[in-house]
Amino acid sequence: MKVDVLLGMQWGDEGKGKIVDVLTPQYDIIARFQGGPNAGHTLEFNNIKHVLHTIPSGIFRPKAMNVIGSGVVVDPVILREEIESAMKLGADLHNNLLISKKAHLIMPSHRLLDKAYEEYKGASKIGSTQKGIGPTYTDRTARIGLRMGEIFSPNFVQKYNTTKAHHLKVMQGYNFTETNEEYEKQWFEAIEYLKAFNFIDSEIYVNKALNDGKSILAEGAQGSMLDVDYGSYPFVTSSNTLASGVCSGLGVAPSKIGKVYGIVKAYCTRVGSGPFPTELFDATGETLRRIGNEFGATTGRARRCGWLDLVALKYAVMLNGLTDIIITKADVLNDFDKLKVAVAYKINDKEVDYVPFEMNDEIEPVYVEFDGWKQDISKCQNEDDLPKPLKDYLKFIAKETGVKISYLSVGPDRVQTLKVNIE
Ligand code: GDP
Ligand code: IMO
Ligand code: MG
Repeated sequence: MKVDVLLGMQWGDEGKGKIVDVLTPQYDIIARFQGGPNAGHTLEFNNIKHVLHTIPSGIFRPKAMNVIGSGVVVDPVILREEIESAMKLGADLHNNLLISKKAHLIMPSHRLLDKAYEEYKGASKIGSTQKGIGPTYTDRTARIGLRMGEIFSPNFVQKYNTTKAHHLKVMQGYNFTETNEEYEKQWFEAIEYLKAFNFIDSEIYVNKALNDGKSILAEGAQGSMLDVDYGSYPFVTSSNTLASGVCSGLGVAPSKIGKVYGIVKAYCTRVGSGPFPTELFDATGETLRRIGNEFGATTGRARRCGWLDLVALKYAVMLNGLTDIIITKADVLNDFDKLKVAVAYKINDKEVDYVPFEMNDEIEPVYVEFDGWKQDISKCQNEDDLPKPLKDYLKFIAKETGVKISYLSVGPDRVQTLKVNIE
């Protein structure tokens, strides 16, 4: 068997959580491979709305096993809160959740460092979620990080203090004096709480599962344009959000990757700073935000909104080797008379059809206009029910990217999802 992959194709918040929950019945195992509690994945079913940050989005389907892979960074306080609230909804975390021993721990001082760096950057700040993601991945690369499996070591507190002392020195250099002793207390309590859950060598577990014929879906966090190597650097997150990140984050070989599903919001959003060529600063952007309820699932921040950007999308398709596109939030566009899609960028009066080295303010999008469908699609059940202007919009996306659209999401609930075949 192979690992199928599900990834965000834009700047995050494409609706990955919802779609993973919808696809989970087709899989034995759902595995997160990167990112951490900077993610906010929203699931809606049976009138429940639930946001997950670290736990894979398969957790509310009783038959699936959920793995927090070694490429993930974990804040024990946040994971504990997530476990407790998912258990209240009936999820069986003691049996259905497995945590990689190699996943790195986000320490309380990583959160402080995140804040210190952002404050120091001032106007050029990234707009980080300040969950300590960047500093934790930095320490992993610097080889001073703490891994989940070390919580069982008799030297754990000593190791913790060594790394913390390093952080304090760095913060002194920044004249950053804030502390978070209360959080640190909760952190150590959460570590004790988590010891009752299942810790595994996830790379061995995942490869054995594949050899045993089990099906696996890898759940991405963030989006391709936030990838640390190929996203809109430096306004990116600190992990590999692309399909390639599955290999390092789960310990599987490239030859073991199967389908690659790209989640594409029918328009674009971005939260935090950084370039966004199709961003709308007018009433249309405001309408997208209001109808799409575009406020961050993790930080509550208003998301920046704009038209679909095919230049950036084609780049993401190329980087990920997509086999299928899944379009979400098409219903948000129900009431628009006209829709626009960027097909090229104009830079210094020259038209380009690729993402340039610097994605800056000089980019002016070149748009193609589409008729809106002016109809409620949120109850559509199959492809034949879809209005023609929507089909034309979707066909254009499939044709331009060269990737078929295999699902369409028309509302936040599990049941508002159509299997389609649009090429
Ligand atoms: P993720 O980070 O990619 O999992 O996405 P988020 O959960 O952060 O943001 C997506 C938001 O859109 C959530 O509030 C979802 O409930 C909602 N959502 C997902 N799919 C659809 C859809 O097709 N239509 C509408 N209206 N909302 C959707
Ligand atoms: P999901 O999985 C949207 C953004 C932040 C910031 C930048 C760096 O829900 O799609 P970080 O905290 O990683 O240092 O922040 O990345 N960001 C996200 N934006 N969705 C996310 O996750 C994000 N995770 C990080 O807003 O601009
Ligand atoms: Mg999100």
